[in-house]
Amino acid sequence: MLDIKGVKNKTMTINKNYLNLKDSYLFSTIAKRVREYSSENPTAKIIRMGIGDVTLPLTASVVSAMAKATAEMGEVANFKGYGDEQGYGFLRDAVKGYYSQKSVEINADEIFISDGAKSDIANVLDIFGLDNTVAIPNPVYPVYVDTNIMAGRKIVYMDGFEANNFLPMPDKKLKADIIYLCSPNNPTGAVYTKEQLTEWVDYANKNNAVILFDSAYEAFVQDKNLPTSIYQIKGAKTCAIEFCSLSKTAGFTGTRCGYTVVPKDLEREGKSLRNLWLRRQTTKFNGVPYIVQKGAEAVFSAQGQIEVNKNISYYMQNASLIAATLKDLGVWFCGAANAPYIWLKAPKGLDSWQLFDKLLTSANVVGTPGSGFGSNGEGYFRLSAFGNNELTAEAMERIKKAKMF
Ligand code: MLT
Repeated sequence: MLDIKGVKNKTMTINKNYLNLKDSYLFSTIAKRVREYSSENPTAKIIRMGIGDVTLPLTASVVSAMAKATAEMGEVANFKGYGDEQGYGFLRDAVKGYYSQKSVEINADEIFISDGAKSDIANVLDIFGLDNTVAIPNPVYPVYVDTNIMAGRKIVYMDGFEANNFLPMPDKKLKADIIYLCSPNNPTGAVYTKEQLTEWVDYANKNNAVILFDSAYEAFVQDKNLPTSIYQIKGAKTCAIEFCSLSKTAGFTGTRCGYTVVPKDLEREGKSLRNLWLRRQTTKFNGVPYIVQKGAEAVFSAQGQIEVNKNISYYMQNASLIAATLKDLGVWFCGAANAPYIWLKAPKGLDSWQLFDKLLTSANVVGTPGSGFGSNGEGYFRLSAFGNNELTAEAMERIKKAKMF
């Protein structure tokens, strides 16, 4: 900065909140450790059950819709430049139709197409004051904590442990303005019931709080009695924003497409949060490519849903096999029934990272240390069901043989 005489009197500064973050993002740390191990042990056949990345390719309907859209982009008559601000109407209508099947009525102008749930969950913080207190489950997907540390907001942790099935509930002590809920939960696979979500919605409406509801894994819920959207709960439209993604549902981890719902009824300080989010997105985001949105539209077609459900069943077979193996070995675990994650307890005497190292070196299997999801995850471990069936079966055989449990 220069003073009135043009003399520099202050050095430029950085956002020092970043200094409060751990050195690297959980999944980057894991990838680095695995790279190091692989280069020291080039013949090791590593089976990856760490990051929740899909292994099945895009389905036939998606590929054909994207191919058609690509061809259109090469024709003068059909070429598209910038897309519609909130996403193309055809995709917002398809998402609206998907919600209708869950008995949830959402208007197309309450739906915002995005490049995935992760970015929206992080970016939505732009529309909230820095003086808000944020309540975050412990353990949970690390993006919620990291993005609030970056902004310097006060965080209070909501304890998840075996006794509450890793599903924290509001209590008298809780004083929070922004509340993160993730159901089905990453990393524990636990799912809130309708009664439990009703308690949260009532808490938020009573206390003027906003729930940021991450439903990225909703398509994996098998039990028809469990909610797959917070808007299936009465009163949620006045207190909740929902984030969803096609990453895990339809194999879009690399293709990138998700959607966020901000109901028009959601207001704070007399202002519409939907309008604030629209203002934020139109200023800072130019939308998802037409070709990708056409692929996403195909996911919601009748044939697209058949294909996607087939892929989900494939991953859920892995989840069942992992669960059966752990049961045989007498290992405590949760998840697997309604989510693609299995959350297990490390053997006595091993912390999460020690189990990570042991699994990597003695079975060449990669998982995710529970402590990476928060302090209450220490002593636990997450296995992902997104692998291929044969490799998952082999990983289970290796785990049994390694006799670490
Ligand atoms: C995970 O493994 O937790 C997820 O893949 C992370 C993500 O979806 O960003």
